[in-house]
Amino acid sequence: MRIIDHISDLHFSRIDHRASDALLARLNADPAHLVVISGDLTMRARPREFRAARAFLDALTVPWVAVPGNHDITAYYLWERLLNPFGRWEAMISPETEPVYEDEEIQVLGLNTVSRGGLHLNWENGTIPRSGLLRLLRRLRRLPEGPFRIVVAHHPFLAPPERPDTPVVKRGERALRDLAQAGVRLVLSGHLHVGFHNLHAVTAKDGDSLLVLQAGSATSTRLRGEQNAYNRVVVENGRARWTAHHWDGAAWS
Ligand SMILES: [Fe+2]
Ligand SMILES: [Fe+2]
Repeated sequence: MRIIDHISDLHFSRIDHRASDALLARLNADPAHLVVISGDLTMRARPREFRAARAFLDALTVPWVAVPGNHDITAYYLWERLLNPFGRWEAMISPETEPVYEDEEIQVLGLNTVSRGGLHLNWENGTIPRSGLLRLLRRLRRLPEGPFRIVVAHHPFLAPPERPDTPVVKRGERALRDLAQAGVRLVLSGHLHVGFHNLHAVTAKDGDSLLVLQAGSATSTRLRGEQNAYNRVVVENGRARWTAHHWDGAAWS
């Protein structure tokens, strides 16, 4: 059995400090095996925001993996965004934008869906580069079969059921098919600041289905009608179940 706390869209420095402090205390007091962070650690990719995010991660007593979100690359310095978009991330959060965690029961693989964009304006919805998907599928082929396979990415692969016209990551549906075929059973993502789940109908080779689980924003004050939230996922006997935890303004419940 493995327990994973899935948190997303922290957005330092625009955070609710009480929610953030209480979340940190809670994650440490009742530790999961792994904390998975699906991007947008910062608001504007400023160094001081990365330092605050890093301090949060350093205070975690649980192993963690994180992928960047669209807010973790600079929107202001075009040349930096085009030529070295993840330099700040790599310097202050992790040398990896696509981390891999594996043990005897789970394999968690990061997929970087952040588009550096060109001069066009619509780059915040993300994309799955063909090269990134192929790299991920290659990594999956090399890993031992058996452990429960999880992919974490910032951008949503599917729209919320009640808002089907929500933009999702480019090539998401195609990627879900390939990931299901490669034995992935759970995709964790964020970005929308709205939590929901969706069972992907395309069945994998063993006839099982792939669960797409979205986390809301754990600590940001930029909420889209939802409370701050995160998901606790329990993986056991080849299946995942989850509980959404919400911040009610005074405590996590
Ligand atoms: Fe976000
Ligand atoms: Fe985002």
